[in-house]
Amino acid sequence: MSADSRPGPHLLLGDEGAAAMCAASAEADPDSLSAASRLRSRFGPELAAAALAQTSLRRRAQAKFGAEAAQIWFTTDGLEQASRPEVAAWRAARLAAAGVRRVIDFGCGIGADARAFLAAGMTVTAVELDPQTAALAAANLPGAEVLVGDATQLAPGLLAAADATTAVFVDPARRTDRGRSWRVADFNPAWPFVLELLAGRLPVCVKLGPGLPRELIPAGVEACWVSHHGDVVEAGLWRLDVQQSRASRGMSAAVLLPGPHRLEAQLDAGRLPVRAAGGYLLEPNGAVIRARALNRIDPQAWLLDPEVAYLSTDHPVASPFASCFEVLQTLDAGEKTLRAWVRDNRVGVLEIKKRALDVDPAALRRRLKLSGPNQATLILARTVAGARAFVVRRVP
Ligand SMILES: C[S@@+](CC[C@H](N)C(=O)[O-])C[C@H]1O[C@@H](n2cnc3c(N)ncnc32)[C@H](O)[C@@H]1O
Repeated sequence: MSADSRPGPHLLLGDEGAAAMCAASAEADPDSLSAASRLRSRFGPELAAAALAQTSLRRRAQAKFGAEAAQIWFTTDGLEQASRPEVAAWRAARLAAAGVRRVIDFGCGIGADARAFLAAGMTVTAVELDPQTAALAAANLPGAEVLVGDATQLAPGLLAAADATTAVFVDPARRTDRGRSWRVADFNPAWPFVLELLAGRLPVCVKLGPGLPRELIPAGVEACWVSHHGDVVEAGLWRLDVQQSRASRGMSAAVLLPGPHRLEAQLDAGRLPVRAAGGYLLEPNGAVIRARALNRIDPQAWLLDPEVAYLSTDHPVASPFASCFEVLQTLDAGEKTLRAWVRDNRVGVLEIKKRALDVDPAALRRRLKLSGPNQATLILARTVAGARAFVVRRVP
């Protein structure tokens, strides 16, 4: 069977596919046997299966894309890999604000990220190796130029013809049979190609996962971790200022969405002081921790432990980059002490936050035998004086 005759969502792109999609979307449960037999009798097994699977995917995609999901052609991988729309829109807006008018997307998948470039008013040239996926991208990217082929082979011609208002975007596939990989040899398009783009004459954005190992960050490139509603969703490698020396120190940044709120740091920034807790504890956003921008949250903050990302201050801190808690009481972190404390304070609902301690909050809550009308929050943290339990109140 040739690649293009394999069953798949690309079969749905013609008129018969549209009729099958119409029938599948009218099904209350597209995964049911009865829906399958109804559609098979009208459209044959392949088209029926493709339409029902696509309908099921679109319903799942509503959680990420809202009503727009009904207009997008998905694959299972494509839905999983797609950026959250607000993140893709932020990325596109950042490129547009840097003067970019056209984006070449090398390895566009179903085109979920590229849709945001179009929506931001830029023109798009999208390259995709897999013909079926490229067919979906073409349907998802009205007005874009979609090329089927190997990015590494098409790049020289596309880059040579590109003017200074063109930027390059790459979101390399990192999936192997064992799951997602950080072995650069598993990246597609290949990592040396990505590095060449980052060293080239055009602005570049490379989308990677939030677990990006620091040794992969090339010199002179900004590594930007993005958090969306508190979840760290991606790390991007950005080179917007192509005049900037490649020998310059690496920058890191944390961007919090919605916002955007942006905090910058040097990748090799100095360490914060380490002391016993003051009157307030700060729990930094995960993107700030990964960008090693803890020292930018508050100039007077210090760490409780050199390796643990809890900060402390003597004053309340209002910042989008960290949650602030007032310390009401400090206890030793032993279970006997905690059990006595919840009993004496008649605590029935207990929020437990912890970092770098081998504690399962749900199991600990059960062992503490909570009972009573009161609620409390505990932060369990390693400190210079050993593990401590801080009874805290969130500062609004
Ligand atoms: C992680 S996905 C991209 C997802 C995309 N950003 C989106 O929003 O849908 C990576 C894509 O790159 C494609 N790809 C891998 N190697 C390629 C190559 N050498 N040339 C072109 N495309 C390639 C894969 O087929 C895959 O669809």
